Amino acid sequence: VKHLLGIKGLTRPDIELIFETADTFKEVLNRPIKKVPSLRDITIANVFFENSTRTRLSFELAQKRLSADVINFSSSSSSVKKGETLLDTVNNILAMKVDMIVMRHSSPGSPHFLAKHISANIVNAGDGTHEHPTQALLDGFSIREKHGEVGGKKVAIIGDILHSRVALSNIFALQKLGAQVMVCGPVTLLPRYIRELGVQVELDVRKALQWCDVANVLRIQLERQQIKYFPSLREYSLYYGINKALLDSLDKEITIMHPGPINRGVELTSDAADSHHSIILNQVENGVAIRMAVLYLLAQSR
Ligand code: CP
Repeated sequence: VKHLLGIKGLTRPDIELIFETADTFKEVLNRPIKKVPSLRDITIANVFFENSTRTRLSFELAQKRLSADVINFSSSSSSVKKGETLLDTVNNILAMKVDMIVMRHSSPGSPHFLAKHISANIVNAGDGTHEHPTQALLDGFSIREKHGEVGGKKVAIIGDILHSRVALSNIFALQKLGAQVMVCGPVTLLPRYIRELGVQVELDVRKALQWCDVANVLRIQLERQQIKYFPSLREYSLYYGINKALLDSLDKEITIMHPGPINRGVELTSDAADSHHSIILNQVENGVAIRMAVLYLLAQSR
């Protein structure tokens, strides 16, 4: 495999190989010296056309832990502002002898477009509302770490499913790994094609929480809403917000996940996000090992 464009194109053995490779790198990251020489002959550009905290820093740290040379591009301070196209921008970066591109872009399919026009390896770090494959991999890896395996687990993805690349990549990854997947949110924030993906649909958040072993909670993505959607943030928090009292009222223990950034007090209250149910910071920790594994495995294709 030359690129990681999405989870849709991966097989279950592909995902299991990434997890097993990440297990090894997680051990490395727990040593006093956290660095290995695996990618010391590789140069990687992190090309971000959208804001990011976790993904960009996690990729950069993964690359540095693998001893790669790293350059970072942010569109807001670049010549994109002077009218340069995506392809010209990337070809100019590649002319500096760059081997891999990690790209986040607001247009769905933009990494697939690049893959048709350039020879470097491409990793999709989030393409609009489409896919966010490394997020789904680190989410699956974190469920496996907490619950022993992903297969057979019931996972509810709760929130703004319509605008979420995390939801789509998670659905693909969890189903390939044998989990049962439910989505839950207001009907206005569920895509019309959602049942075609083979997931269960639940509009009542309490019933979704009562059903699942793991709840992956998503924020409302106001930045992707072209029109004003219902409900408002206030209504959303009233009917779908998850707090510790709600979690404590269930007749079982469930795990709470969130890809970040959290809008505290909207989809999750602090007493839920910071409770013993939460593995949110474990997800962030695991993101570095997962991204090391992805970059290492893609480098083998060179
Ligand atoms: N989870 C995630 O993609 O976070 P960032 O937008 O901060 O990268």
